[in-house]
Amino acid sequence: MFGLNKTTAKFCDLKGKVAIVTGAAKGMGRADAIKLANAGAKVVLTDVDLAGCQLVVEEIKKLRGDSIAVKCDSSKKADVDNVVAETLKKFGKIDILVNNAGIYPFEPFLEMKEANFEKVIDINLKGYFLMAQACAKEMAKNKSGSIVNIGSVAMGQVGMGFAGLVHYCASKGGITAMSEAMALELAPMGIRVNVVAPGSIDTPGTNTMKMDEKTRQAMLAPIPMKRNGNAEEIASAVLFLASSESSYMTGSVMVVDGGWCAG
Ligand SMILES: NC(=O)c1ccc[n+]([C@@H]2O[C@H](COP(=O)([O-])OP(=O)(O)OC[C@H]3O[C@@H](n4cnc5c(N)ncnc54)[C@H](O)[C@@H]3O)[C@@H](O)[C@H]2O)c1
Repeated sequence: MFGLNKTTAKFCDLKGKVAIVTGAAKGMGRADAIKLANAGAKVVLTDVDLAGCQLVVEEIKKLRGDSIAVKCDSSKKADVDNVVAETLKKFGKIDILVNNAGIYPFEPFLEMKEANFEKVIDINLKGYFLMAQACAKEMAKNKSGSIVNIGSVAMGQVGMGFAGLVHYCASKGGITAMSEAMALELAPMGIRVNVVAPGSIDTPGTNTMKMDEKTRQAMLAPIPMKRNGNAEEIASAVLFLASSESSYMTGSVMVVDGGWCAG
């Protein structure tokens, strides 16, 4: 079974696969889309920011990859259905979904507006549900698929809480629990569902959080590797879970956090 073989395919080869990535205009979604395209997948980039996605499509073209951009607010069912329709029209099938689109607006719990709570849950949790359900219906036809949901170390029960992010933590805990349940229901259909739970990652989203050097050092102090991760390091985990190299993994959570949760 094991052994060196000259004909062994490239590690995490995605040649012939079709992937959808949400929130792909920047940050981790952008890195995921580029990583999957580099591994040979045809990629559908979706985001509320269509112009941002189109720039990433141009980057992928320079790498000789094949991709399209489709505007989509992943919390809206009509938009989600349109992404699936456009993907099938252009590429004929769906093999991989990376649910990544998310927001993390800080707001103290006692002042948190109901509408803001609902918005975070709508995008971060309901959006993942809508995309996963619509894609899994297509994957089931081919008895094959991999869904990678981007969660967070803010998912609960890993020894850390995040003040000012009650709505966000609720959404990320929901993603982990929802992914386990999806994994059970979809395993008989050949579809795997896993979570990547990033720690503190430098992205355009986190870079908008202005902080002085003292606060930055305090944020890094509990991270054993004493640095934030970068989007490419998360994309590597996404690629592994998207590919058949992780064929015996479903319902799992892969924490990528520089050792933060281990501390
Ligand atoms: N950056 C971190 O430290 C960190 C840590 C853990 C988890 N995460 C998660 O990773 C994911 C990506 O985070 P990031 O830091 O790259 O964010 P980012 O803000 O840099 O990028 C997020 C992208 O999502 C898009 N988006 C927002 N709302 C959308 C919607 N309704 N529909 C479609 N697209 C939408 C934005 O336009 C943007 O392009 C999120 O789910 C986030 O919760 C981030």
